[in-house]
Parts: sequence; C-alpha cells; structure tokens
Amino acid sequence: MAPRPTRLATDPANRASAEQLRWSQRFEGALHPFIAEFNASIGFDLTLLQQDLDGSVAHGRMLAACGVITAAEAERIVDGLETIRREAAAGTFCPGVDAEDVHFAVERRLIALVGDVGKKLHTGRSRNDQVGTDLRLWLRGEIDELEVLLRCYGQTLLRLAEAHVETVIPGYTHLQRAQPLSLAHHLLAYVEMTQRDRQRLAQVRQRVNVSPLGAAALAGTPVPVDRRQTAAALGFADIYRNSLDAVSDRDFAVEFLAAASLVMVHLSRLAEEVILWASQEFAFISLTDRCATGSSLMPQKKNPDVAELVRGKTGRVFGHLQALLTVMKGLPLAYNKDLQEDKEGLFDAVRTTGDCLKAMTILLDEGLYFRPRRLAEAVGNDFANATDVADYLVARGVPFRQAYGLVGGLVKTCLQEDLLLRDVPLERWQKLHPAFAEDVFTVLEPRQVVAARLSEGGTGFVRVREALEQAKAAFAEPVVQEAEE
Ligand code: ARG
Repeated sequence: MAPRPTRLATDPANRASAEQLRWSQRFEGALHPFIAEFNASIGFDLTLLQQDLDGSVAHGRMLAACGVITAAEAERIVDGLETIRREAAAGTFCPGVDAEDVHFAVERRLIALVGDVGKKLHTGRSRNDQVGTDLRLWLRGEIDELEVLLRCYGQTLLRLAEAHVETVIPGYTHLQRAQPLSLAHHLLAYVEMTQRDRQRLAQVRQRVNVSPLGAAALAGTPVPVDRRQTAAALGFADIYRNSLDAVSDRDFAVEFLAAASLVMVHLSRLAEEVILWASQEFAFISLTDRCATGSSLMPQKKNPDVAELVRGKTGRVFGHLQALLTVMKGLPLAYNKDLQEDKEGLFDAVRTTGDCLKAMTILLDEGLYFRPRRLAEAVGNDFANATDVADYLVARGVPFRQAYGLVGGLVKTCLQEDLLLRDVPLERWQKLHPAFAEDVFTVLEPRQVVAARLSEGGTGFVRVREALEQAKAAFAEPVVQEAEE
C-alpha cells in the first residue's frame, strides 16, 4: 500500500485546505493517492479556467443583486477572481492534483486571496451546474473559432475554383472516368459541404447557448437566485427549463461531435482525392515543398503527408463521438461522475478539427498546384464524351435507349481497334446512323462536353460561374444564424 498523503496544512492566512473545501467535516480520512489522481480532472479541465472565472463573476454579481451577499462582498470576490485571471496569464496559477478540478482550484485560491468572503461564492451553486456552464461557454467560443476557420477554408477553395473554371478534369463515378468537368465545379462541391458544415455548427451553437446555472446540484436551490441574470451576463440566449436536465444534458456536446465528424468526413474526402491526384497514376497535381515530405530511404519520394494525416485524424473525431454517446447511454438522472469523461474527447475533437481545417487550407493555398497539360491529356484520352454522342442522336430524334446502344457498340469496336471516338472517320459514324454529320466532332470536344451541361447545378461553364458568385457571397459574411427562439 502506498502511504496515505498527509492532509494539506491550512494556511495561517486563512487558506482553506483542499480537503476541507471539498467534502465538509463528514470526511476524516484522506484519499488514497492513486485514487486522488484517478478522480481528478485538473490535469485537463484547466482548459475551462477562463470560463470558470467568467461564470463565477456572473454568479457572484447575481448573488449581490439578489441580496444574498452584499455588493461590497461581491466586489471583493470579483477582484479575487480577476487576480486569479492575472496569475494564470503570468503562469503562476498552477494548481496540483490535490485541487481535484478547476472549480475547486479557483475556489481554494479565491479563499486564500480574499479570505472568508470567498467562502460565500458557492452559495446556491453546485459544481454540477458550474461545470455545465463552463463547458457550454467554452464550446460556444470554440464553435465561433471553427466558423472562422471554415470560412477561411471555403474562401481558399473558392479562390482555387475561380482560377480553374476553364480547366477541364475527368469526372468519376465508381472511380472510373465518367464525364469531364470544370475543375471549379469539382471544387465547388467541397464548398457546398463546407457551407452545410457552417450552418450545422450554427445550429448546434443555439443548443450550446443555454444556461444550466442555478440548477445547482440537481433540484434547484432555495437561495433566491436569478438564473436569467447570470444567463444574460454570460451571453446565453436561454436557460434550461428543468434542473435535472440542466445538470445532466450533454446532447449539445454529442451534436457538436457529430457536426465535427461531418467536417472531418468532408476534409478527408478531399484529402483522399489530393492523395490520389498526387500519385504517379493520376499526376493531376504536384505538391510543393511547403507541404510535402520525403522518404528517409527512397530519394525520389515526395509524400502527401498533410492529406494523409487529415484522413487519419478523422478517426479520432469519430471515436470521440462514439465515446460520448456510450458515456451517455444508460446514464440515470442526474449528474454522475461519468460526465467528467465528456471533456478530453471534446477538447481533442475541437483541436483536431481546427488543426485539420488549418492544414487543409494551407495545403490548398500553397501546397499544391494543378497540372493543366496532364489534365487535358486525361480528359482527351478516353470515352468520357460517349454520353454526348448519344445525346447528339437524341437531339436528332433517335430514342435515347437506341442511341445509347449504338454508341456502346461503337465504344466496344474502338477499344478493340485502340481508337478514340474522335479518331473514327465520318463515314463510319454515318454507317452507324445517318443522322451523324460533321458537327459530331465538335460535340466530342471535352470543353464542349462540359459547356453543354447547362442544367441547374450542372458543370456548364456558365452555371459554374453563377455558382461561384453565389458561393463567394455566402462566404463573404459570417454564416447566417437562424433566429433564436
Ligand atoms: N470535475 C467534475 C466534472 O468534470 C466537476 C463536477 C463534479 N461534480 C460532482 N458532483 N462530483 O464533471
């Protein structure tokens, strides 16, 4: 057995010991040192320090406004909390594992700084509503930062798209060449995903932005608190209606992780394309030295590590979503210590998603360039124009299914003879169907194939330019928040 830790000495200048703070006089013994570590969240929840201070300032002021403490007491408490903020900025606020968590650490330091009046701060409040408040405040700020990163990423995609409206690339289904596309159209598909990500996060933010403060441990409090005052002071749009729900709800965190998972799905899809495009087999892009690495062994190698890491990190965010769903499943009302497990995954998901957005933005901005000659070769040398030949016959009265059959037969003979459609002489076309004329060769041009697709949402250059302008307008502004009820 490891020796029991000695109890912390009480500071003569009125410093409450951690143990005294924590569990009242009901407890006499000290925690087993390993259990103290096992139980503590201070190793990771110091991330919430600023929000804990903000929440405590709002709570202290509200207590004064409601006549629970005096205005002078509230000011001394607020001064003490601001001192802790300065200490943290100076790097001198470094609570150890004996503080258990950020909430106790702040309260203990406050009492050391301002004396007995600091012991009044926790009136009408529990760590259960406190931690929920901190986590929501923190996540709200992080969502706002992710919105900035998403916008920046989208704008980078848009700049690249704008430069490549006229660049034609092969479009794929089943990873088989299907029909040529404007490269901008391809990139704009990712812009659309990014726009949905922004909207989704804005919606999640509305459910994050609800105050649990004043729900106390689980049942509310007899202290005459004003929940709406603290909510307003902290910028929350609403308060939880049910105290049990307030202290045990983590739906907002699950929803955030789901939204972040989709951001990662989208990033990793583009990452996968970048990896394919950079391969010798595709060779549609070249990687610059800014974002590629070499091999320690093979001198010729240049690897798309950034894209591979983004693809790989996606799994972490999915994992955090799954982990939190599992924590929540079967959790009886109300607060259970299981909920302490909500933090590390959420923190990591926020960091990972933000880092991946930044990395992909840099990669698109200065880490790669498209190779127009290779792209032209790729679109010129296949049968991606076959549908257009069928459509050519349709325009001349041939039923689509018949036209489709005729062109399919021609593709087959071309493959046998190692010819492309553009190599087939006019007489052969006309033997296939008398409706074919000289202008069939114009239809076969990849640029023409792209230009012709003018249906709404299609890759026709005219449509792509319209879509580009719309997307630029959408990304010029912060995402439109839906009205908050
Ligand atoms: N560190 C705890 C957490 O992160 C704070 C809430 C503790 N509440 C309690 N009743 N033990 O969830």
